[in-house]
Amino acid sequence: MSTPDNATVFAKGLDGIIAAHTRLSDVRGDIGQLIYCGYDINELAGKVSYEEVVYLLYHNALPNAEELAELKTTLAGFREIPQGVVDLVTRLPRDTPPMHALRTGVSALGCYDTTADADAMDAQRRKALRLVAQIPVITAYFHRARQGLPLVTPDPTLGEAANFLYMIDGVKPSQEKVNTMDMCYVLHADHGMNASTFSARVTIATLSDVYSAVTTAIGTLKGPLHGGANEGVIKMLQQIGSLEAVDAYVAECLRQKQKIMGIGHRVYKVLDPRAPHLKRMAQLLSAKLGEPKWIQMSERIAELMLQEKNLHANVDFYSATVYYSLGIPTDLFTPIFAIARTSGWTAHVLEQLADNRLIRPQSIYTGTTGLKVVPLAER
Ligand SMILES: CC(C)(COP(=O)(O)OP(=O)(O)OC[C@H]1O[C@@H](n2cnc3c(N)ncnc32)[C@H](O)[C@@H]1OP(=O)(O)O)[C@@H](O)C(=O)NCCC(=O)NCCS
Repeated sequence: MSTPDNATVFAKGLDGIIAAHTRLSDVRGDIGQLIYCGYDINELAGKVSYEEVVYLLYHNALPNAEELAELKTTLAGFREIPQGVVDLVTRLPRDTPPMHALRTGVSALGCYDTTADADAMDAQRRKALRLVAQIPVITAYFHRARQGLPLVTPDPTLGEAANFLYMIDGVKPSQEKVNTMDMCYVLHADHGMNASTFSARVTIATLSDVYSAVTTAIGTLKGPLHGGANEGVIKMLQQIGSLEAVDAYVAECLRQKQKIMGIGHRVYKVLDPRAPHLKRMAQLLSAKLGEPKWIQMSERIAELMLQEKNLHANVDFYSATVYYSLGIPTDLFTPIFAIARTSGWTAHVLEQLADNRLIRPQSIYTGTTGLKVVPLAER
């Protein structure tokens, strides 16, 4: 085993390691607090729109009415996708998981942008903001195409949440649906040095490009220990099937040391502050739909996990029921997380570029040394 000379600390999973200064968001795991640029998430949720949060992350201040209107116009104007990317994502195999399609589409966007490698800060900001507007469009185009349905052209009069719902369903969404989706976007926009944000920062810190950084982030978010957990929650609820079967299911998972999706968090050791907002929305939607089974099962799982393991529900736990109640297909849950988190990823990319240093940790070598090569014929 050999430890690098200048190594100071080893932490598996980089647990407890500080990798950057950021003004964007703070996750206080000990007290269950999430702050975006000085505002507690409980102060923002229900009071500001997703576009206001995008502005906040990009400018470190909330916009006035004029600034907000200008941002909305810019985002709506950025939604057009190069025809080559439309062709690519709409011709992918129909059974491609949407996160693969999204990652491929974003990577392809870089091929059609002649300024992809331009490094001036204003060019970087433009590319970053354009991705915020284009990622939902790619997701919606792929989703329509895989069902053999005609593509829906973005509607510039609609905000981000409303336009995405319109583009996947082909009908204008109700205000209630838009408000719910918008709140989900607000709650998912940023979250400190989470795995996908870190991976985006690692990529851009090599002075690669914004498309590569966001492609990396999408690949990272996809995993079931990160953004992929929300899909896992619905699959688990469907597998359990009824409220009566919850206790036995949880007991069996604990006995087999199997993870329950949507429970636990690397940083929050108390309640994830986003969870109560999502829980409230899930309760309202379930009551309205007259289908309380899913939320009742979720509440029982959360209760048992707290009791048995002192683990709380995280952001993915109730967002799954919210999206499900909105009629959104399960495999779009993680892409929706990606759509909202693009604002955070790109804001972090810009912050990293403004004060960059290559991110390059070290490893402890646990292999052997001094081996001699045996000629191929003698091995
Ligand atoms: C989020 C997560 C990866 C954090 O992991 P971590 O900080 O590395 O925690 P660990 O995986 O080391 O778990 C610590 C202990 O809690 C248990 N635990 C953590 N999450 C659990 C879960 N969801 N279900 C059951 N047990 C869990 C582990 O089995 C372990 O127990 P042990 O000490 O008895 O062995 C983990 O909680 C998890 O896998 N959750 C499910 C996936 C999920 O919802 N991800 C989205 C996060 S926003």
